Amino acid sequence: MKSISIIAALTLGVAEVSGHYIFQQLSVGSQKFAVYEHIRKNTNQNSPVLSLSSNDLRCNVGGSSGASTVTVPIKAGDSFTFTADQAVYHQGPISLYMSRAPGSANDYDGSGDWFKIYDWGPDFSKSTVTWPLRSTYTSTIPKCIKDGEYLLRIQSLGIHNPGSTPQFYISCAQVNVTGGGSATPSGVKIPGAFKATDPGYTANIYNNFHSYTIPGPAVFSC
Ligand SMILES: *[C@@H]1O[C@H](CO)[C@@H](O)[C@H](O)[C@H]1NC(C)=O
Repeated sequence: MKSISIIAALTLGVAEVSGHYIFQQLSVGSQKFAVYEHIRKNTNQNSPVLSLSSNDLRCNVGGSSGASTVTVPIKAGDSFTFTADQAVYHQGPISLYMSRAPGSANDYDGSGDWFKIYDWGPDFSKSTVTWPLRSTYTSTIPKCIKDGEYLLRIQSLGIHNPGSTPQFYISCAQVNVTGGGSATPSGVKIPGAFKATDPGYTANIYNNFHSYTIPGPAVFSC
């Protein structure tokens, strides 16, 4: 079974040499919305961002404006899902971040503070390390955060090629949180949150790999 999925992943990789994968669809609860309805449409197809100092690290290339994106209502505590066009196949962590817009999410460029709400990392419990590689990632909006419009960001960090520049696959959704509490989590700036010296950025996942620290701040919990 394991070898079949590896072969499938390799075949997909070969078929997609010029591209990779992109998180293009948001669901709220079980309701799945159209491609790019609530996710900012990027302009780099499904290519990664490589620069640690670029503003494109926020919401991908072309994602600094939400002018053509519809902000979706979501209740604090509700579940949501990001769906990619094909399963994530580059090993590395997947993380979720949020940043509260000072006004409308449509107008927000993501230059404020970002807090992390979830991390998926490697599983060291089996004889071979496994990564959470799939096409859908589901989590929930923290119950205690203050109502308002937010950017909701997913990031897959591809560290599959030790020694080459890691790859950031990013998308931002626009959500309008209601029914929350009063928490305004402190956060980090993007770019800035990820450094070339982060152990989770430089890790060699094929050599003596027994522990891993996911880049970015600690996950916020209510
Ligand atoms: C967000 O929700 C608030 C409270 O229901 C509402 O007043 C506001 O218009 C909503 N914003 C958007 C963009 O839907």
